[in-house]
Order: sequence, then C-alpha cells, then structure tokens
Amino acid sequence: MAEIHAKMAEVNAKIPTSHIFTSESTPAAEITTVSLFVIAITAVIFLIVGGLLLYSLIRFGRRANDDGREPPQVYGSNPIELAWTVVPVLIVIVLILVTARTIFSIQGKSRPPGALSVRVIGHQWWWEFRYPDLGIVTANELHVPLSDPAHPTPTFLDLESADVVHSFWVPRLAGKTDVIPNRINTMWIDPHVPGTYFGQCAEYCGTQHGNMLLRVFVQPRSEWEQWVASQQRPAAPDASVAAGRAVFETTACINCHAVSGTAADGRFGPDLTHLMSRETIAAGVALNTPANLKLWVLDPTIMKPGALMPAMNVRDEDLDALVAYLGALR
Ligand code: CUA
Repeated sequence: MAEIHAKMAEVNAKIPTSHIFTSESTPAAEITTVSLFVIAITAVIFLIVGGLLLYSLIRFGRRANDDGREPPQVYGSNPIELAWTVVPVLIVIVLILVTARTIFSIQGKSRPPGALSVRVIGHQWWWEFRYPDLGIVTANELHVPLSDPAHPTPTFLDLESADVVHSFWVPRLAGKTDVIPNRINTMWIDPHVPGTYFGQCAEYCGTQHGNMLLRVFVQPRSEWEQWVASQQRPAAPDASVAAGRAVFETTACINCHAVSGTAADGRFGPDLTHLMSRETIAAGVALNTPANLKLWVLDPTIMKPGALMPAMNVRDEDLDALVAYLGALR
C-alpha cells in the first residue's frame, strides 16, 4: 500500500500545487482579492491594537520605585467612546459592502447561451460528472475547455448529492460550494490557464472524506474537443477480452457500474465506459494501472477502508480476465 501511495504522490508532485493563492479563474481571483483586502484591514487593526497594548505595558508597567497607589483614573470620555464605536462600525460596513459585491458578482453571473453545463454528483466517496448536452458520463476527473478572457467560455456546474452533504472545492478555480441532497447548487469556472487542478471534498462526509479527491483538466479547445469525441465513441473492447466481459456481466458489477452499449447500467458506482481514459482510480487514491485495478477489484478496502464497493471474491483466473476487460475500456 505504501508503494501505491508513494507512486501516486510522485505523479501528484508534478502538478504545481505550491501556489494555492494563484487563482486561474475569475471566481477564485475575485475571492482572492477580497481575502487580501480583509487581511490588509485586519492586519492594520491588529498592529494598532497590539501596538497600543505593548506601549501601555511598557509605559505604564510597575516600576521599582512604585508607591503602590493607583494612577489617576479617567471616567467617561464622549470623544473616545464615539470614536471606538463609529470607527469599527464604518470598518464593518466597508467589509460587508466589499464582500457582498463579490458574492453578488460571482453568484449573479448569468449562463450564456451555449455555455458548457456539467452535472456534478457527490457520492460517498467519489465524484460523478455528467455532461447532459454531450452524452458523456465520467468520474473524478473533470475535463473543461480553456476560457480565453477576451472571449470567455465558462463552464457551469450544477451540484447534487446522491447521499450526504459534500462540498466541491478546487481552490485555484473557485470557492467551495456545498453539495446538498435534494437540492441543486450552481457554480461556474472560467479557467484561464491550461493544466491540471486539484480539488477535494471540503465537507466531512464519512470515513473516506479525506480521499474524496478530484482533478480538473483544463484543456485548449481543440484538445478538449478531442477528449469529448473519444468519450462519445463506444468503448468497443475487442474479442480478446470476451472472457472478462462475461465475468463482468455475470457478477454483481453491473448492478452498480455502467458500460454503455452493454447490459451494465448501474448508477451506484462510477461509469466504466471509458475507465482507462482516467489517470486515477478510487477518487484519486491510486494510479489507474492494471495492478492497482486488480487490487481494487480484489478488495477495495485495502486501498480505501470503508469504501462502499464490496470485495468481489472472484476466482483468480476470473480476476485476471476481469482486469483485462477493464483495461480494454478505453
Ligand atoms: Cu464528500 Cu467529504
């Protein structure tokens, strides 16, 4: 297990994560601006209050030659009381206005005609991505087109939950949005820089909350269109994996997983039609390699204790055939 995690960490290390505050999408940039503004104001308040406190400690501390009497006391001062009421009220009003403006500008964004819409469904403990206009279903790895600031092509996400409350968070693209059962929340992103962005479920949702990871692949338009075209093609594994396919279709796999064009149409687990087009399995826990797939099918709780997929208990030779079939789902 340690080896699998080390390999995963090695791959992840190639994705720049050091600049968590480098926002690459309008909502994230606006939130960063507000955060820095709030930090600046509160830092000034901290310096003034801390400075006065420090000054008082030093200036009015007990002296060696103290006579033990209290210094002259001041009772009531209208100007001082007025100042320490009015000034904080003004500061709070400014913070409210700036924050409200940002919230309304992000949430009030209207969906331009033809904008890409993705349904994001949080599950314990993975993410389902459905592109209703394109007929694509995938998991844990969201592909979106690059948005040119001059001609923005934002992606709108409609977030739902299949079970408990989750929260969708890709720090460099947008703020957190809660994913709540029986409710659809909406957010949008317009990434300006191609690349891979890490995300994470940000609301405790059970034992494997910490391993409910996601990746967003931001691709130049032509590359993204290629991805769409490949996802829209049927998986079409060849006859050499027929034995594995038979195992897959005669075990409980098909109750939870879908492979388009076959009898498998389960919705409880990730769609496997183009399983091998994904870099990772188990919501970013391990690389998508035949060895890891085999271990996963053998017993998912080895990699992800508490995972809701049961150990499939297939015979050794069937397991190999099954993994060969999965490996042909490109
Ligand atoms: Cu889903 Cu935490």
